[in-house]
Formats: sequence, structure tokens, C-alpha cells
Amino acid sequence: MSTATLDMPTKPKTRTDQTPAGRAVPGERVARDRLVFTGFMGSGKTSVGSLVADRLGWHFLDLDHEIEARHHRTVPQIFAESGEAHFRHLESATLASLLGQRHVVLALGGGAPEELGNRLLLEQTPHTAVVYLSAPFATLLDRCNQQAIDPAATARPNLADLTAAERRFHLRRTHYERIAAHTIDTSSLSLEQTADAVLELLRSVAQ
Ligand code: S3P
Repeated sequence: MSTATLDMPTKPKTRTDQTPAGRAVPGERVARDRLVFTGFMGSGKTSVGSLVADRLGWHFLDLDHEIEARHHRTVPQIFAESGEAHFRHLESATLASLLGQRHVVLALGGGAPEELGNRLLLEQTPHTAVVYLSAPFATLLDRCNQQAIDPAATARPNLADLTAAERRFHLRRTHYERIAAHTIDTSSLSLEQTADAVLELLRSVAQ
């Protein structure tokens, strides 16, 4: 399988890049080796990440799926049997082990950037660009409810209490923005359109 090269300059300069004005992107935060999707539950990290990986000819990894495969339990089982703190511990260890791979697109779980260690690791891993898929809370909730209709969908324990979920959404936004080299507003985009926007963004910053 051929792999595309994403040799990007240090500073994004396109109209699709919504990095807060004036914030320089450190030189190593370019997607030569890894592209990481972050955002709240329902933002499309897994679906868009897998579309983008296909188009780049890169390998796709989903952090939740990796945790489940390694520990032989679903995410809801880990939450129910061992608690969220234990899940976060497994999540951090799994993330650290995956970031060594090259030419991968990685979809994080929505809560991964809550951990300072995970944020530092993402910021300090060379040749790695984080893309934040953003949308308003109501839009994300609608999407999660749509996904939950599918009997094969994995439940999201942190959506059980909607007030707490909205609080987390507001707390996490700063983290998503800070670790991301690029932000894409997905509110009015389909998954395909979001994948197109990501690829267009990567192409334009590579010029
Ligand atoms: C979580 C998000 C989930 C999963 C777990 C916790 C969260 O991933 O990691 O249920 O706290 O936001 P998705 O964002 O892929 O749903």
C-alpha cells in the first residue's frame, strides 16, 4: 500500500485552519508520521479518522478499540467493573504504546485529553499533528443518540448523566484547542465532507 507524505511547514496558514490567532505551532507538530483526532463524544473521530486513513494509505487505530482488544473487556465493562480512574490509567498506557507507530491515524477517546500526561505526550511526540473536530454540545448529543440506535454501537458511560456530560464538554474544550494544530468545525459537515476538509487542510499547509 502506498503512503502519502504530509510534509507540513511549522505554521498552518490556511483558511480552514482555525488555530487561535497568534499561537505558533511548534515545529514538530506536523503530520509526517501521525495524525491524531480529538474532540468530544460524537465529533466523528473514529469515522472521519478511518476515512482519512484509507485515503492516505495509513493505518487506522482507535484508542478505545485498542484498549478493549488488549484487556478483553468493553469500555462500558471497564467503567462498570473497575471505575473511570482505572479506565484512564489503561487509556494513558495504551496511548503511550501506540504513539511509537508511523504512518498512523489515531482516534482518541473524548476524555483522553483530560489527563495532563496525555496532553504532554501528544504535544511532545515528534511529527504528530492533532486535529480537533468541534461541534456544539447539542449537535454532538444528537449524533450520539443517532449512533446509539445501532444495536452494535458501544455505550458511552459518560453520557448517562447529561448535566455532567455538558460540564465536561465545556471543561474539555480548552484542552482540545490547546493540543490541536488544526480545528475543523464539523457542525454542518457530513463525515465525508469532514474527511475532505481534513485532507484539503493537510494538502494546503503542505504547500
Ligand atoms: C469517553 C469517550 C469515549 C470512551 C469512554 C469515555 C469520554 O470515547 O473513551 O466512553 O469520557 O468522553 P468516544 O469519544 O470515542 O465516544
